[in-house]
Amino acid sequence: MRTAIFPGSFDPFTIGHADIVRRALTLFDHITIGIGINAEKRPVFDVEERLQSIAAAFGDEPRVSVKTYTGLTVDFAREEQAEFILRGVRCVADFEYERNMAEANKQLGGIETILLYTRPEYAHISSTLVRDLYQHGRDISQYIAR
Ligand code: PNS
Repeated sequence: MRTAIFPGSFDPFTIGHADIVRRALTLFDHITIGIGINAEKRPVFDVEERLQSIAAAFGDEPRVSVKTYTGLTVDFAREEQAEFILRGVRCVADFEYERNMAEANKQLGGIETILLYTRPEYAHISSTLVRDLYQHGRDISQYIAR
């Protein structure tokens, strides 16, 4: 059984994130979406609500589960008995960040990171953009996975 975690802040979880998970189901038997809780960061969207809405978005897919975690991503991967970390890359600006994180996680936990490219139509969608629109009172429903 080939398993992965898909870690992130997911504040909020976008249609781009959901697309990565669905496409990665061709590679993995099970994916656990891990909402990383950073005690020093104050999220805009309530974590319990995010957990529920992501679970609802994948209600039709028993091979996907959703959890929150604190601490290191490699420790969460070990708890989940996951062999891989899955991440999405939208653009070249994401690349250095992902490369450094993959390298750190490889050294810390001996775990490989698998990167999938975001589909071009979702490449401009980021949690930062969606938060910004939300905080300016715009309708963000088109960007949220459901
Ligand atoms: O969606 P994000 O903000 O890019 O996700 C970042 C996340 C949560 C994957 C990253 O910050 C993380 O792994 N945090 C947990 C702490 C950790 O493991 N740090 C070492 C890896 S660089």
